[in-house]
Amino acid sequence: MELPFAELYKMKMVETIRRSTREERERWLKDADYNVFNLRSSYVYIDLLTDSGTGAMSDRQWAEMMLGDESYAGASSYLKMKATIKDLFGFNDFLPTHQGRAAENVLFSVLVKQGDIIPGNSHFDTTKGHIEFRHAHTVDCTIDEAFDTTLYHPFKGNLDLEKLENVFKEHPNERIPMVIVTITNNTSGGQPVSMQNLREVSALAHRHGALVVIDSARFAENAYFIKMREEGYANKSIKEIVQEMFSYADAMTMSSKKDAIVNMGGFIGFADRALYEKASVYNIMFEGFVTYGGMSGRDMNALCQGLYESTEFDYLQTRIKQVEYLADKLLTHGVPILQPTGGHAIFIDAKKFFPQIPKEEYVAQTLVVELYLEAGIRAVEVGTLLADRDPDTRENRYPRLELVRLAIPRRVYTNSHMDYIAAAVCNVYDRRNEIVSGLVIRKEAPIMRHFTVELERL
Ligand code: F0G
Repeated sequence: MELPFAELYKMKMVETIRRSTREERERWLKDADYNVFNLRSSYVYIDLLTDSGTGAMSDRQWAEMMLGDESYAGASSYLKMKATIKDLFGFNDFLPTHQGRAAENVLFSVLVKQGDIIPGNSHFDTTKGHIEFRHAHTVDCTIDEAFDTTLYHPFKGNLDLEKLENVFKEHPNERIPMVIVTITNNTSGGQPVSMQNLREVSALAHRHGALVVIDSARFAENAYFIKMREEGYANKSIKEIVQEMFSYADAMTMSSKKDAIVNMGGFIGFADRALYEKASVYNIMFEGFVTYGGMSGRDMNALCQGLYESTEFDYLQTRIKQVEYLADKLLTHGVPILQPTGGHAIFIDAKKFFPQIPKEEYVAQTLVVELYLEAGIRAVEVGTLLADRDPDTRENRYPRLELVRLAIPRRVYTNSHMDYIAAAVCNVYDRRNEIVSGLVIRKEAPIMRHFTVELERL
């Protein structure tokens, strides 16, 4: 018998989770205004809200925490982080921040001015938020293939070079300070960007005098896909691939809550000393002194260890095979999911799941609600709620894809949990025709509404 693939780690500590009844969930969700961000975690059996800050640290990461240096300035933990970032990403300078959006806030305080245009591949919502908050605009240059959920393309995160070139041509009078490349591309399905695309985007941006900033939250998963799918990289180590990826960038923003496998943390990496110095001023104002910036020494230590672990092939293989395991079960049952499977999550195509529900009724959020009621699984909407209103017209923006993301936390759930999730999704799919209407908004915030929105069932 061929030996199956099994996890390349074992457990040393466990946390109890509890199931609930359908009646309890009906009550809790109504009290939460049909917004799963308002649910207590104890009301959730399997939490797929996000893979951000929800990973399980390793024994070595916990050991590193004991060695943290909590000095205000010049701590050894800071120097360890500086050396790790230089080693993996090649950047001489960095600023620690408390999480990814804080890195965006600091860097964009220097780079983004009112009226600027910032092209990229489906900017993440906090990234877009920080740009629009400064009265600048984003342009999505993701390749068209990304919007066909069943089409196979190995690098659906790629930017379309023609679209990108056109942004520069069509905006001769606006400033285009940078191109942001998000790896992997979370919003369009955790899809990777190829090395070739990174290289070409970098050349194009630099030709037009724009910087290349990599939004790096899931950089290691991106490197895994390059190794598995791109010609010429099969025999390169993940670390070598990562080093090449970042050689095309001028700066990186990092949410360490993903591929650094810590619960909180972030940083900015800089190739240019002058940019680092300008950003330092904002870091001191918003985050903390340049050698800690919102992080404690022990957290910086765990982060460094996490970066080394996430760039090990064995870790990445275990991680991505688990996501594929769940995807295969759903595909076998005919559930419409985005293909190929991304790195950190399964994305269900809600428009195909519920074609009978009008787009004005928040199709993807309706599926989020049904999944929670069915099995106590908390997923997240990546659709009209997240796309928010146009900042100028205040009209709802209807994205091309209405997705439900089942984000898989790192090293947290077993494949039995994947079996349970698959059964729950399949059950809702089997009774999909009984669900004929969606939701209506009762109250929403002016920006990033999805976190606090209050909804009602129609
Ligand atoms: N960039 C990307 C691609 C992200 O996915 C996130 C966060 C951020 C930036 C912001 O980082 O949360 O540390 O401030 N994504 C989380 C998610 C929230 O659930 O996908 P942060």
